Amino acid sequence: MPSPDPDGEAIRDIYDALAEDYNLLLPHLSDLIESYSVIVELIPHEHDDRFRVIDIGIGPGLLSEMIADTFPNAHITGVDISLQMLECAKRRLERFRPRVELLQADVTQSIPGGPYHVAVSANALVYRNMRLADCYKRIRSKLVPGGVFLNSTLIAAENPEIEDAITRSISSRRAALDPNLVKRLQEKGSRVSTFGDNSLAAAYRCEEHLEFFNKSSFDSAAMIWRHRSQALFFAAAGTSQIHA
Ligand SMILES: C[S@@+](CC[C@H](N)C(=O)[O-])C[C@H]1O[C@@H](n2cnc3c(N)ncnc32)[C@H](O)[C@@H]1O
Repeated sequence: MPSPDPDGEAIRDIYDALAEDYNLLLPHLSDLIESYSVIVELIPHEHDDRFRVIDIGIGPGLLSEMIADTFPNAHITGVDISLQMLECAKRRLERFRPRVELLQADVTQSIPGGPYHVAVSANALVYRNMRLADCYKRIRSKLVPGGVFLNSTLIAAENPEIEDAITRSISSRRAALDPNLVKRLQEKGSRVSTFGDNSLAAAYRCEEHLEFFNKSSFDSAAMIWRHRSQALFFAAAGTSQIHA
């Protein structure tokens, strides 16, 4: 899929090359996985409700798998710019067909389908090219009145001391992982990491995220959970219908 944005093309190519290794790494990203559990707990629906969810930048589909397992009548649309990531998600989510659909889309351009009752995203809206306020606005316009958006994302440290402590803590956890896998991911993925050279990624502070939500016509938003550099934002769409 051609993208009008060179950063978008670079990100897509990097994730195409990384997909299988990222799929192996994902279960070990404990802060991210913990945030998935909080997302599932916070989805404001009963076990048997019928509702529509969009997972933005679905990657290998682990978050969507947890949602599909927890809510047997939820319909889930997973979107990603990388076809190889969508292949990994397809393998993981095959057993839920037809209530899970997977689509290739560049969410900096448009978000397919909708309206949705719930939008979720995990470490996908973390790239400089995304212009987060615009992206959040596009997501808001795809939600039903009363819908919610749960975004688990990287967050910038408040000061250099906190950043140092977080970096040390993350490095010591990395030591427990397969060094070859870590090496491959660092080599191929340096540009999509906030630590990488010439990085395409960006991490914002909590108040910047809240400002982006505020500019995007969400009724209210809060950081509801945080562990090290992983934070979860809960945003409520409010009752009016908004079109992009
Ligand atoms: C770090 S991975 C996170 C994947 C998954 N959400 C998870 O929790 O592991 C980032 C994902 O965002 C996707 N992505 C990046 N830019 C995108 C864009 N503009 N539109 C759609 N997906 C995008 C990548 O292809 C990749 O699968």
